[in-house]
Amino acid sequence: MTMKTISIINLKGGVAKTVSAINIAYTLVVKHEKRVLLIDNDKQGNTSKFFGLYDPESDGLSELLTVRGLDVDSVIRKTGYEGLDIITANMNLLRANKEILMDVSLPQQTRLRKKLEQVKERYDYVIIDNAPDLNMSVVNALVASDDVLIPIKIDQFSFDGLEQILEQIDYVSEFNSDIRFAGCFVTMYQRNNVNQQGAELLEQQGFPMFNTRIRKTVKVDEMTFTGKPLLVYAKRSTACVDYIALVNEYLGL
Ligand SMILES: Nc1ncnc2c1ncn2[C@@H]1O[C@H](COP(=O)(O)OP(=O)(O)OP(=O)(O)O)[C@@H](O)[C@H]1O
Ligand SMILES: [Mg+2]
Repeated sequence: MTMKTISIINLKGGVAKTVSAINIAYTLVVKHEKRVLLIDNDKQGNTSKFFGLYDPESDGLSELLTVRGLDVDSVIRKTGYEGLDIITANMNLLRANKEILMDVSLPQQTRLRKKLEQVKERYDYVIIDNAPDLNMSVVNALVASDDVLIPIKIDQFSFDGLEQILEQIDYVSEFNSDIRFAGCFVTMYQRNNVNQQGAELLEQQGFPMFNTRIRKTVKVDEMTFTGKPLLVYAKRSTACVDYIALVNEYLGL
């Protein structure tokens, strides 16, 4: 199959972008025998920290985006899970974002897309965990992406920023005509009125929505401390079952 790149994005913080990126990636590896590359695109480095690979010194996404001629292989690391590799991020991403803007001698939006072309025979999926931002590294992620997935936590501010992401997808289609808004999915779902009504409202607004909702469970908070994806740490938990269902729904199974 040809490699597919998926951006997990929402301009809001704390909606489960990172948790979703990790568990969608690992589910693709274990349940569907896919070869997956995770990309941490957040200077907080939460995904990198999860796998014990956060390092303020080592080369990662920042260098891949800014150092001329840097080989993508020099920034790909093993996660410790067979079939799942990672490109890490750290605070250097702040500087990298400024550098991309200043250095006009290289194309600014298509850098990641070009680098990923080098690994297209080696991975089935690239999953990008984006920062709650629309900076140049996020633009690069969108330009490199085939599909965009938006995790949504239902609260008063759930709708904020969705329009901007859609506008950005539109803008990016100038560089990447393949980009597709695959849909939103509800995270941290609880069976209560707010969640029920919020989810319905999203559907009424005409946003493409996945039927699968990721239920809220303390197992997810625990998982973030263990360095183990849900399929390893708590495979019978509601959220794990839901991520498996979400991936199936995404794959059209
Ligand atoms: N299904 C769930 N049930 C319970 N807690 C969850 C669930 N999903 C995510 N969380 C918790 O929500 C918090 C935010 O998750 P996460 O870090 O993945 O969000 P994020 O969107 O990546 O945040 P940021 O914008 O800071 O990068 C974490 O503490 C996580 O444990
Ligand atoms: Mg995150």
